[in-house]
Amino acid sequence: MHQNSSVMKTSAKIVVSISLLLFLSLPFPAFSARPKCNSQDKKVLLQIKAALNNPYHLASWNPEEDCCTWYAMECDRNNGRVKALTIFSGNISGQIPPAVGDLPYLETLVFRKLTNLHGQIPSAITKLTRLRDLTLSWTNLSGPVPSFLSQLKSLTYLDLSFNDLTGSIPPSLSQLPNLEEIHLDRNKLTGSIPESFGHWAGKTPNIFLSHNQLTGPVPASLGSLNFPSTIDLSRNKLVGDVSFLFGRSKTVLFIDLSRNLFEFDLSKVQFPVNLTNLDLNHNRIFGSLPQGLTRLNLQFLNVSYNRLCGKIPRGGDLQRFDQYSYFHNRCLCGAPLSPCK
Ligand SMILES: *[C@@H]1O[C@H](CO)[C@@H](O)[C@H](O)[C@H]1NC(C)=O
Ligand SMILES: *[C@@H]1O[C@H](CO)[C@@H](O)[C@H](O)[C@H]1NC(C)=O
Ligand SMILES: *[C@@H]1O[C@H](CO)[C@@H](O)[C@H](O)[C@H]1NC(C)=O
Ligand SMILES: *[C@@H]1O[C@H](CO)[C@@H](O)[C@H](O)[C@H]1NC(C)=O
Repeated sequence: MHQNSSVMKTSAKIVVSISLLLFLSLPFPAFSARPKCNSQDKKVLLQIKAALNNPYHLASWNPEEDCCTWYAMECDRNNGRVKALTIFSGNISGQIPPAVGDLPYLETLVFRKLTNLHGQIPSAITKLTRLRDLTLSWTNLSGPVPSFLSQLKSLTYLDLSFNDLTGSIPPSLSQLPNLEEIHLDRNKLTGSIPESFGHWAGKTPNIFLSHNQLTGPVPASLGSLNFPSTIDLSRNKLVGDVSFLFGRSKTVLFIDLSRNLFEFDLSKVQFPVNLTNLDLNHNRIFGSLPQGLTRLNLQFLNVSYNRLCGKIPRGGDLQRFDQYSYFHNRCLCGAPLSPCK
């Protein structure tokens, strides 16, 4: 009995070893869980490469190889569909090929730091219903911020900063139900901030509109919003009273309103409790610095080049900043500026 079972154990071991050997000797792909790149996606990628004049940047896009191994690309491990296309910092000239709209599983589309990329944002991208991140930034793209972007219902992140975009901001963008952050900064946008930006279909996103030529007052509807961290309206030609952007119970951490034509009394403003960065430089803000500023944990403060008056409250972080945070006001005084008379 004992003898027999030992023989059986030995033969079982041999069987296991042989099958393991057989398994190991199978060709490698049978092992890998990753499916190959979808052939339709591959065809589209080769169209994109051709439309961009077969740039050196995409030299690894070799039709003989699995496109999931190509540079600037990412496939979904489960189905081999292309889910990210990130073309960054290459010598690429031409326009965004409309063929990008034919990658139906795309979740991330990035064209960034490509100074020779020009033309307009193609409407073909509205076909990308799964798109979550659209970044077209640091390029020479021109034309409008297209209203049709509001059709990209899965978008969480929209970055069109550092381009040559012109025209006004389409009100329809506030219909994007999943948006968390919108960057339209560093373009040549004109007109005013749409009233609809005070009524978002989903959560309120962080908003970056700096370095444009936006005019007019900021819609009061923005006063009821709770920006998760940031509102940046700096370097525009916006006017009027924006004290409604403040308020003790707001969640915002960064407020940059610098280099506009804002005009309001700062004395009455109550600051969001968690505000860490406040830049108000180069406006027409009057009144005095409220005592409430001393209760904040400020990392950055700049109220220079306004029409403020009175003594800088003592305490909190206010004396940690140097004179350049406060200079060029009507009659601000006290440390770090010279003593009040
Ligand atoms: C960029 O590519 C163009 C042709 O596509 C070529 O003429 C030019 O020399 C390249 N520039 C650099 C800096 O490589
Ligand atoms: C792209 O824009 C940069 C800066 O905005 C400019 O210097 C450059 O000449 C532009 N290139 C083309 C091809 O238009
Ligand atoms: C401020 O921060 C604290 C700690 O993170 C948090 O619990 C609180 O909800 C925040 N308050 C507001 C108004 O955002
Ligand atoms: C505040 O803004 C003024 C005007 O732009 C600038 O000169 C100064 O250096 C800034 N101060 C700080 C601390 O950034």
